[in-house]
Amino acid sequence: MPTVGRRLLLAPSLLSADFSDLAGAIRAAEAGGADALHLDVMDGHFVPNITFGPALVQAVRMRTRLPLDVHLMIEHPAQYAEAFAKAGGTTLVFHVESSDDADETVRAIRATGVRVGAAIRPDTAFDRVEPLLDRLDQVLVMSVRPGFSGQKFIPDVLPKVVAARKALDASGSSADVSVDGGITTETATLAAESGATFFVCGNSVFNKDPVSDNLKSLRRAVDEGSRRAVR
Ligand code: DX5
Ligand code: ZN
Repeated sequence: MPTVGRRLLLAPSLLSADFSDLAGAIRAAEAGGADALHLDVMDGHFVPNITFGPALVQAVRMRTRLPLDVHLMIEHPAQYAEAFAKAGGTTLVFHVESSDDADETVRAIRATGVRVGAAIRPDTAFDRVEPLLDRLDQVLVMSVRPGFSGQKFIPDVLPKVVAARKALDASGSSADVSVDGGITTETATLAAESGATFFVCGNSVFNKDPVSDNLKSLRRAVDEGSRRAVR
């Protein structure tokens, strides 16, 4: 489905929230009109950082009915698909660069009954994810090197957002194209203009108060971008 008239989804990333008050962050995101929550799982192997596992996803699940977008920055996503699905993930997004075979990972996630997303790092070509498109609910184009929040958006990835949206539209798929990393009001507009429909926002939502104002500004920014989108 083309992006025209489609609700663009804002997904605050809890990685930028105060870990000692995640319940407060979840409430603030909900009250501000977030469409989903993004949870960054890192294993210290696929990326040089360690965050959390299924137990925390489950704790978040107990606090909200929002869709949970679980971004698996781990070497063995197929192996952990069931655990993250059971924990309450709505979409499990794996990296095509991880050690597990991509087709097998799609099957493993699908078998759990949840939605499937595939992510590519900024230096990975769109070709790597293209063969999977007809089986995906989401394509995640990373706009920073995975591992940390608060980095600067890499504009060179935008052609991949355009390519993903075009390919999905051509095949009649309504899968989301999401962008993750360095999303601000400026870069959100650029990404929406390129055809992104799902926006992961960490620092731009949680590093200043109030969260609801930040989400409102981001909402305006993505709506502006989608109006300008080349169709
Ligand atoms: C980075 C993570 C992102 C990160 C985004 O590896 O995948 O989800 O939390 O944070 P910001 O929006 O601050 O770049
Ligand atoms: Zn992420």
